[in-house]
Amino acid sequence: MTDSRKFSAIILAAGKGTRMKSDLPKVLHKVAGLEMIFHVINAAQSAGVSHTTVVTSPIQEDLRNNILSKASDTPLTMAVQQEQLGTGDAVKAALPLAGNPDKALILFGDTPLMRPDVLQQMVEDSADITLLGFMTDTPDGYGRIICEDNKPIAIIEHKDADEQTRQIKLCNGGALAVNASLLPDLLNSLENNNAQSEYYLPDIVGLAHAQNISIDLVVCHQEDTMGVDTKSGLAKAEALMQSRLRQKHLDNGVTMIAPETVYFSYDTIIGSDSAIEPHCIFGIGVNIDSSVTIKGFSHLEGVRAETGVQIGPYARLRPGTHLGVNAKIGNFVETKKAHIMQDAKVNHLSYIGDAHIGEGANIGAGTITCNYDGYDKHLTEIGAGAFIGSNSSLIAPVKIGEGAYIGSSSSISGEVNADSLALTRAPLREIEGWSVKFRMKKDKSDKAEDK
Ligand code: UD1
Repeated sequence: MTDSRKFSAIILAAGKGTRMKSDLPKVLHKVAGLEMIFHVINAAQSAGVSHTTVVTSPIQEDLRNNILSKASDTPLTMAVQQEQLGTGDAVKAALPLAGNPDKALILFGDTPLMRPDVLQQMVEDSADITLLGFMTDTPDGYGRIICEDNKPIAIIEHKDADEQTRQIKLCNGGALAVNASLLPDLLNSLENNNAQSEYYLPDIVGLAHAQNISIDLVVCHQEDTMGVDTKSGLAKAEALMQSRLRQKHLDNGVTMIAPETVYFSYDTIIGSDSAIEPHCIFGIGVNIDSSVTIKGFSHLEGVRAETGVQIGPYARLRPGTHLGVNAKIGNFVETKKAHIMQDAKVNHLSYIGDAHIGEGANIGAGTITCNYDGYDKHLTEIGAGAFIGSNSSLIAPVKIGEGAYIGSSSSISGEVNADSLALTRAPLREIEGWSVKFRMKKDKSDKAEDK
C-alpha cells in the first residue's frame, strides 16, 4: 500500500564550514561529481519527500542562488536562519516555509552518504519521532542516545555528558523524522542552558518523552551519517562513495579486474557485460550500454556509448561524444561534441571535435579536425564509409562525401564529393645523389674548422 502522507525535508546548512578552508560554501563541495547538498536533497526525494527547505545563514546568498539554479526541477525553498543559535533554532527558521507536511525529515546538508532506504524507513515509521542512531567504538563528539526498555528517551550531547553517559556507544546520527504538527511546540520549548549555549535539536527527544509522545529508533552504519567538515573528511567521503559505486556496478554485471583504481560519478550508467580496465575515470554524464570495453587509463565525461563500442587505452572522451554500435576509439584519441556512428573507427592519436563521422568511416592515425578559428567552432562532416588518410588536417567547416578517400597528410577544407580522392600532398621530388654531395661538403668544412 502506498503511503498517502506528505513528507517534507528540512536540510540544515547554515553552519560556517570554516574548517574546509575554502571560499566555496561547505555543502557545495562535490562527492563523486555532485555537490554534497544535492546528495542529501536527492536521497530525501528518493525516500518519498515531496518538498525540501534548505536552511542557510544571511550571508550565504551565493549558496542560495547556486542551489536554486541547479534545482529547477526540485520543489525547493530556501530559509534564512538569522543567527546560528543551534540546530533546534535552524529548524525553527524553516518551519514557515516547509509547506504543512504530515512529517518533517530533518537532515544535515554535509552528510553526502545518507542512504535513501534508511531515510525511507524513518519517514514511513509510525512513531511521532524517529531518530537515526548508529553503534560505534569511537563515539567521541557525538550525541549519545539514552534508552529505557530499549526505547530512546533522550539525547545528550558529548560536551554535556558525564563519564558514564560517554561510555554509551549508541550515537545520534543527526537525522530526525518528526510528526510536523508537534514540531512548533517542541522547538519553542527548547532551552540553551548547555555547554555550547545552543538550542539543540536533539533535546526535543527528552521533551517528547516527558509528554508521552512516541519515539522510535532506526539504526544505520556510522558512515551513512558521516558529516564532512574538512578536506580530509571530504576525501574520506569520496573514498566511501567510490566503494559504494564500484560495488553497485559490479553487482550490475560490469567486469573490473581492479575496481579500486576506477573512479565513477554519482550518475554513471554502465550496462552489464561491459568491461572497465584499470585506472579509468568517469566524469559526470556518462551512459554506456552493455558489452562495451573501456581499456585502461581512459577518461570519459558526457559520453554516450552504444553496445559493442571499444575505447582506449588512454582515450580522452569529452562532453557531447556519442559512439554508435561497435564504433572504435583507440589510444591517445581525444573527442568532443563528436557523433561517431556505427562501426566507424578512430584508432590512433587524433583530435575529433565538433564532428559527425558516418557509419563505417575510417579515420587514420594523427587526423585532426581543425574546428576552431580563434572565434567560432565549425563542423566537420564525414560521410559513411569515407577513408581519411593518416596525419590529415580537416579544416572546418569541411564536408567529406560518402566513400571518399583523403590522401595521407592532406589539409582539406570545403567539400569533397562522394567516392572522390582528395589530396593536397606536394608531389614527390627526388634528387639523386644529393645526400652524398651534402655529406662531402659538410665533412670538408668540418675539417677546415678543426685546423
Ligand atoms: C549533531 C548533533 C549530534 C549528532 C551529530 C551527528 C546537535 C546539537 N547535535 O552534532 O547529537 O551526534 O550531529 O553528526 O544537533 N547548523 C545550522 N545552524 C546552526 C547550527 C548548525 O544550520 O545554528 C547546521 C550545520 O551547518 C550542520 C548541521 O546543522 O550542517 C549540524 O550542526 P553541527 O553543529 O555540526 O552538529 P554536530 O556537532 O555535528
